[in-house]
Amino acid sequence: MRAALEASRRTSTAVISKLYPTRSHTGAAQGGMCAALGNVEEDNWEWHTYDTVKGGDYLVDQDAAEIMCREAVEAVLELEHMGLPFDRTEEGFIAQRRFGGHTRDHGKSPVKRACFSADRTGHMILQTLFQQCVRHNVTFFNEWHVLDLIVSDTPAGKVCSGLVAYDLKSGGLHVFQARSVLLATGGFGRLFKITSNAHTLTGDGPAVCYRRGIPLEDMEFFQFHPTGISGIGILLSEAARGEGGILVNGEGEQFMKRYAPTIADLAPRDIVSRAIQKEIHEGRGINGRDYVHLDVTHLGREVIENKLPDIAGFARMYLGVEPIDEPVPIQPTAHYAMGGIPTTVDAQVITDAAKTPVHGLFAAGECACVSVHGANRLGTNSLLDIIVFGRRAGIKMAEHSAVTELTELPDDPQSGVEAEITRLLEGDKGVRPATLRDQLQQAMTDDCGVERSGDSLARAAGVIASLRDRYSGISIDDRSSAYNQDLIEALELGFLLDLAEVTLAASAARTETRGCHYRTDFPERDDENWLKHSLVARAPDGGFDLSFKPVKFTRYQPTERKY
Ligand code: FUM
Repeated sequence: MRAALEASRRTSTAVISKLYPTRSHTGAAQGGMCAALGNVEEDNWEWHTYDTVKGGDYLVDQDAAEIMCREAVEAVLELEHMGLPFDRTEEGFIAQRRFGGHTRDHGKSPVKRACFSADRTGHMILQTLFQQCVRHNVTFFNEWHVLDLIVSDTPAGKVCSGLVAYDLKSGGLHVFQARSVLLATGGFGRLFKITSNAHTLTGDGPAVCYRRGIPLEDMEFFQFHPTGISGIGILLSEAARGEGGILVNGEGEQFMKRYAPTIADLAPRDIVSRAIQKEIHEGRGINGRDYVHLDVTHLGREVIENKLPDIAGFARMYLGVEPIDEPVPIQPTAHYAMGGIPTTVDAQVITDAAKTPVHGLFAAGECACVSVHGANRLGTNSLLDIIVFGRRAGIKMAEHSAVTELTELPDDPQSGVEAEITRLLEGDKGVRPATLRDQLQQAMTDDCGVERSGDSLARAAGVIASLRDRYSGISIDDRSSAYNQDLIEALELGFLLDLAEVTLAASAARTETRGCHYRTDFPERDDENWLKHSLVARAPDGGFDLSFKPVKFTRYQPTERKY
């Protein structure tokens, strides 16, 4: 919606969304959006850039991170002027809180950099942007599901001329012709069993690109947020630790002090999630079980009710735990894809290290890989990413549309999707999509989670290959056309299978540990061989083509990460 708003100021713009837009998963981003405003403590955008690069284990493209951190300040102020109700300091400035990996003076101590609206920041961003889009006459196609892109190979290279979308209400397929198309489809946490991601996060955008011959970048880097509700995965915001909450093991120890002596519980997520996993493996989970405690009891009722109301409600509702009085059981939860569709800093989709563009195709937010998050994203940089690069995308799309004629569409661009839908609707009784999806999620959680190894990845790849075979024989019960959720889930499962295969291939290839990609069989970072982005494309024989893209450096040379 940030891109649509910007584009709509210059050209006719529509948003196609499989959800009602204010229900998008941005609404689940709780704790904040960071910008070095320096309202509460001294700060500057260069410290923010440094933290982002170090947090991403030096796989971040530093030119992109500089753009994001420099433009962050204006991005927050723009949202404020649009009406977003940020929390305030007593003097009336936008309030700021601490978040993992955000520091002052290059790591010396944590800094208050996250701007927030209680623990509902993403929700407020959605409401604000939706209102602004309506005001600027953006056309919305709500509950329309994009299932394919129209991409042609021309003498000038790949050109995107539109897309195919399915209207959930009527069950009709429609072709949209456009000069510029932006994918902003979010992540694909539904690859995993324990995840903070909503049911809709099935990676439709990246999967469609992959099918259309566009490689995916850095797919081995999937972030596990340390504090998911135990057994369920729903997010309990890092803001809880930003406000002073601590993690405690079964021995009552604030164990993060051992792993990150300087910033302890506010270390980046890869380090905290791995530490939790280690405590659990070594028998120091609560009562020896597979979770530890998030303790906010010492913060007091007022802080919890005013600054963390949603997560307090989640603890009560899902666990029956009163966080004012007792610690909350948590475990790492699959949260965020650092990898995705490769783009330039203006959100133009590219296909290789030479930055060959797909003309007319753009991507921004979690489905894209700019790459500002490298091997591990810092909390609050995701909301910042969507606002900064959404804005840049909208401007670039409008520029592109202004100088581009509509490209002629191929005959029957919807025919591939139509055949797949017919197969699913008319197929004989076979295996149910939900059965395969459960097995996919279990395999990814067991063997491609916080820790992975060559053996575990090969095991998961074997499971996914057999699920792929069985997918061709699936059937659904609902044969109706209105709101056929059975059909949609079957199609989404196809996307998840593609992304599981790519994630496993990229993870198996990278024989080092970097950021959230923790290989137990290669536990060290290997800058000599692996300081590069991976690109996985579908090979003509259905296998994978693996290539690489250099990391862009400006000022920050890789050193050992210590916190
Ligand atoms: O913990 C959180 O509030 C999540 C924020 C994020 O992923 O950036």
